[in-house]
Amino acid sequence: MTEIIWGLGTSHVPSIGAAMDNHKSEDEYWKPLFEGYAPARKWMAENTPDVAVVIYNDHANALGLEMIPTFAIGTADGYNVADEGYGPRKVPDVLGHPELSEHILVQLVNEGFDMTVCQELDVDHGLTVPLSVYCPDPGEAWPCPVIPVLVNVLQYPQPTAARCLALGEALGRAIRSFPGNLRVAVFGTGGMSHQLAGERAGLINEEFDRAFLKDIETNPTRLAELTREDYIREAGSEGLEMIMWLIMRGAVGDDLQRVHETYHVPASNTAAALALFAAGTTA
Ligand code: DHB
Ligand code: FE
Repeated sequence: MTEIIWGLGTSHVPSIGAAMDNHKSEDEYWKPLFEGYAPARKWMAENTPDVAVVIYNDHANALGLEMIPTFAIGTADGYNVADEGYGPRKVPDVLGHPELSEHILVQLVNEGFDMTVCQELDVDHGLTVPLSVYCPDPGEAWPCPVIPVLVNVLQYPQPTAARCLALGEALGRAIRSFPGNLRVAVFGTGGMSHQLAGERAGLINEEFDRAFLKDIETNPTRLAELTREDYIREAGSEGLEMIMWLIMRGAVGDDLQRVHETYHVPASNTAAALALFAAGTTA
């Protein structure tokens, strides 16, 4: 039986990756953030998955603004690290799991989620920074194959939070129906509150973020009822990335237990958080 063993919600701020790549994790600025990650990293290293499904958004790096799929899935053998303007991060390229990708794709389409298929895809900080949060020292290769699931959180009309939660529930059913005995982890990435441009650049709303962190565990329905305008008003234009955590939460399901949580302000201009949930029999 294939099972989901844990779900991780984590920010994907590029400077978190840059801090690791440039050996600055012990610097005064970064140390508190990485200390907050430590218990989660230890637990994940003791509970390693066979495959990671990473829900993230491309930031107009691999997919230009000419084509904007609402939801997409990678089905490739592997994914190169994207060049975001300064050369690709010096982390390993990502190995795929095409069999599980194909299975998830078919199941999701059969359930009415008409996913765009990416047979080739470079992965940007939205995916590689969460992998570094999980595994700070991958060496030559990441510890497991990865399936990218992409969400449009950039361009109106982004999917609703309710649709994200429903997609996550279908994703959970799809993963659990894969023949074999895989142990799968699901990452929901992005957030917390942040806005990178415009009059409200630098916006951080700790009260909203803390309520989100509480309800992602116990009351995802409330978070699914918020509109995209609610998220943007309260959490900033890029804070809307938080809806991707609901896909992770839907996939993990209600049989979950919080292992660790940390909230830190700021990581560059962004409120950063991590929440780790053990799922099912792992819980
Ligand atoms: C930044 C970029 C992001 O994609 C994000 O989610 C948070 C912060 C940044 O450029 O600082
Ligand atoms: Fe982002």
